[in-house]
Amino acid sequence: MGRVALVTGGSRGIGAAISVALKAAGYTVAANYAGNDEAAAAFTASTGIPTYKWSVADYEACVAGIAQVEAAHGPVEVLVNNAGITRDAMFHKMTPGQWKEVMDTNLSGLFNMTHPVWTGMRDRKFGRVINISSINGQKGQAGQANYSAAKAGDLGFTKALAQEGARAGITVNAICPGYIGTEMVRAIDEKVLNERIIPQIPVGRLGEPDEIARIVTFLASDDAGFITGSTISANGGQFVV
Ligand code: CAA
Repeated sequence: MGRVALVTGGSRGIGAAISVALKAAGYTVAANYAGNDEAAAAFTASTGIPTYKWSVADYEACVAGIAQVEAAHGPVEVLVNNAGITRDAMFHKMTPGQWKEVMDTNLSGLFNMTHPVWTGMRDRKFGRVINISSINGQKGQAGQANYSAAKAGDLGFTKALAQEGARAGITVNAICPGYIGTEMVRAIDEKVLNERIIPQIPVGRLGEPDEIARIVTFLASDDAGFITGSTISANGGQFVV
């Protein structure tokens, strides 16, 4: 059996591609999801990857969910913090609820998921934490003050934790996808997507979920042991850091 990898939001979108790619690379994969039972059941049926339901926004639920995954498969050695939501609105229309929901999932979710696995990774002297941030955490995006703030926070979390984990054989890295052809991006108004967003992408297309999954597979591997605290951008040239 390969190393155990846990992917949050792992049954849909970029997360589903990550789960499948890690399984193909030999990992024992568990996919967490928060809400869509039907999609999770279909994902398990088509991939054989088990799914576990809890919200990454709830610390106690993360502790219990991770315990369930570890009881079934063994200690989590690779954690992919991929789960994320959008509640887009121009700031003057953004509600405190839209701000909080995005912060709770997209930023606090990283604390809630990483904290329960961290001591085990330190004790075993091996770990891989891979955080899926966003181009919009790097450059900011109108209509996403909440999302951009949370995703920028994910990068600070990555950099701080990388320094703590280094002595214990744990690497912590972030990936900043650009606009990838998932439900989240396709939910953007078609006119906004076609007229305002795609023209800003030099390669002239949305990214593919697999193009992010391949980076995760590399960062999880032993070959990537010297890479920690890094941010890898995959955005078709839309924002060059
Ligand atoms: N910069 C400055 N002003 C902008 C702007 C921009 N980029 N985009 C829109 N505006 C302005 C508009 O011109 C308009 O101005 P007026 O009122 O003077 O005409 C005003 O803001 C309102 O714009 P909308 O008509 O679009 O307002 P809305 O309330 O209907 O929609 C919105 C607002 C939902 C935020 C919509 O603009 C939108 O969906 N924008 C795209 C946001 C986006 O990129 N989200 C990414 C989602 S995918 C993702 O998050 C994954 C990832 O990591 C990349």
